[in-house]
Amino acid sequence: MTDELDKFVDLLQDQIYDETRMEFGEKAYKRWREPKFMERMASPDGYAKQTGTCGDTMEIFLKFENDRVTAAAFMTDGCGPSVVCGSYAAELSQGKSPEDLADFNGDVILEILGGLPEDHKHCAHLAAETVKRALDDYMGRAVKR
Ligand code: FES
Repeated sequence: MTDELDKFVDLLQDQIYDETRMEFGEKAYKRWREPKFMERMASPDGYAKQTGTCGDTMEIFLKFENDRVTAAAFMTDGCGPSVVCGSYAAELSQGKSPEDLADFNGDVILEILGGLPEDHKHCAHLAAETVKRALDDYMGRAVKR
């Protein structure tokens, strides 16, 4: 009985993975299974937490050295695509100057992923907008120094 139940659970799991791959694409699927940079960073130089209209929250942590991002991380309580988009937002922030990040937007993430379904495009924009708010936080702190 346990063997049969295990087989059923495995089958169900595979089905969910296949459906996710079909809906969001191979690249998003892989990143969802192994999200990079998903952690809370201690003492970031720039930090932002933003809740999207969907109710999901994205956090971005940036560490700067010589006005360049040397480390970036994210955390979200949101959907699978928000994990993927947060992960790419953190990855794409690495090595960037504040001027580079000023132009950052969700379309860059969507382009890398080859798009997302219409009802999940906002996940990319939430991630990118949170990066820009974390940058604002960094810039605000720099002015006070
Ligand atoms: Fe809310 Fe994806 S971030 S549905």
